[in-house]
Amino acid sequence: MNQPELEPLLQLGLPNSVFELLAQQRSDNAAAVRTTDDSHALSASIGRPGYAPPNPAVLTDAVTALALGKNVLLKGPTGSGKTKLAEHLSYLFHLPMHSVNCSVDLDLESLLGFKTLSHRSGQPEIDYVEGPVVSAMRQGHLLYIDEVNMAKPETLPVINGVLDYRRRLTNPLTGTVITAHPGFRVIAAVNLGYVGTLPMNEALKNRFIAIDVPYVQGEPLRELLRQISLLKNDKLLDAFVQLSSDLVAQVGLGLIPDEAASIRALVDACDLAVYLPPMRAVERAIVDKLEEDRERLAVRNVAETLFSGA
Ligand SMILES: Nc1ncnc2c1ncn2[C@@H]1O[C@H](COP(=O)(O)OP(=O)(O)O)[C@@H](O)[C@H]1O
Ligand SMILES: [Mg+2]
Repeated sequence: MNQPELEPLLQLGLPNSVFELLAQQRSDNAAAVRTTDDSHALSASIGRPGYAPPNPAVLTDAVTALALGKNVLLKGPTGSGKTKLAEHLSYLFHLPMHSVNCSVDLDLESLLGFKTLSHRSGQPEIDYVEGPVVSAMRQGHLLYIDEVNMAKPETLPVINGVLDYRRRLTNPLTGTVITAHPGFRVIAAVNLGYVGTLPMNEALKNRFIAIDVPYVQGEPLRELLRQISLLKNDKLLDAFVQLSSDLVAQVGLGLIPDEAASIRALVDACDLAVYLPPMRAVERAIVDKLEEDRERLAVRNVAETLFSGA
């Protein structure tokens, strides 16, 4: 691997021993991707960088746990960048990413695959089409399990098997035992409000290293907004960073729901503010999506103090 490729890893400021693990795994994974038949498609499923950590430990601890082969659980409110972080890790480790969402992929088929009838030389044959969990385990890729706390009782044994330190799973569809490739890694995510406990069963929780993923704030947020939103006006960017901080505080007090402080909604507001008065941008991107009058009022009050006269 040449130097420019190591540059993003060097920037992480990892301890030497972790850096070496990461660099080795990245180079092994890159070699594995290069030598497969569908290396083009696989490369496309590697995530892109761009996660801005709220503090450096969020990223370095996730890298460290993954480099040690541990399962990582990202917990944080909606729109805090959990999926973005998983994609960034996929990029750093050069691992193709297979995603499942436990609140959508409820049945075994969507995790493990299904059987289908096909014809070969005129003879009917049963083919097995591999699901994302099996693909990731067999090829040594990254499995991203979103909303893992929403897994139904019938899919829990599958997920537990995947997370087991033996990395072994009996596929009920084929009757075969799958043992994961050594490169296989698991990241799961839960949407967790600022208030409330982790809604997950103990057996599941036990199998993870948990990493809190709060909303990015302050200077890193300013940089992020400047990079990913259309807004370039410094004064307005400052005001939106302050708005985010005020909204996060209100969420903490239970006055408004998590979604109101989502970075996704904030980016939308910044985009609109290039073309609309900022107050109306906030109305459309944040306020109008809230259900209760008092919540809308709370956000409006905060925004008015920041944008009055703008
Ligand atoms: N810390 C962050 N760094 C980079 N982008 C972020 C960050 N937090 C939020 N975002 C942006 O906000 C949007 C929502 O992030 P996402 O990863 O989907 O959140 P989550 O999975 O936690 O709901 C994405 O478009 C992402 O670009
Ligand atoms: Mg997500």
